[in-house]
Amino acid sequence: MKPVIIQPPQVDWLTGAFAQSKILSKTTRIADLAGVFADTSAWQESDPRQAVYDVEMLDSQTSEGNLFTGVTHLHPGRVGSEFFMTRGHFHSRREQGEVYFGLRGTGFLLLQPESGKACLESVSPGSVHIIPGYTAHRLINTGTAILSALAVWPTIAGHDYAALAQGFSLRVTDVEGKIQVREVQNG
Ligand code: F6R
Ligand code: ZN
Repeated sequence: MKPVIIQPPQVDWLTGAFAQSKILSKTTRIADLAGVFADTSAWQESDPRQAVYDVEMLDSQTSEGNLFTGVTHLHPGRVGSEFFMTRGHFHSRREQGEVYFGLRGTGFLLLQPESGKACLESVSPGSVHIIPGYTAHRLINTGTAILSALAVWPTIAGHDYAALAQGFSLRVTDVEGKIQVREVQNG
């Protein structure tokens, strides 16, 4: 019998662009990120249509044991002095982890465990980030170019955004051209 050879989806490691596959895309704009940035007046004064990040995903079937693969393209920018970032989430199934791979640009992956201290991992092309279960995660773009990261996570993980309504406990800002990390109470 002739073996079946399948052409898998392709990703461009330099840009994170997918090819040869059905892709699902979602853009998150300033208007979608109410309550996410510390400086509410700066958020209100920002262009609500401005894209903050785009997520492109392979169209995988959701079932126990299956994995999603997606790339987040986080634009450079700030709201007030705070760098553009993703909303950030816990997985609804708290025990489920995820892996992020830095592809282009520079920034941080903010990790905040349910119990314990938050920390930042530097994201750059080639960086590998193992996000354990029970840990909220958010990307922050501290550079001047797009930050793209590939992620692989269980399709059953789900996203819990509400649990972080109080915000993460670290804020990353640009203070006169220097990256400043501040610890805060209740986001
Ligand atoms: C999936 C995952 C990423 C994020 C993406 C956007 O579990 O962690 O694909 O979903 O970076 O961030 P959120 O979902 O926080 O808006
Ligand atoms: Zn996740």
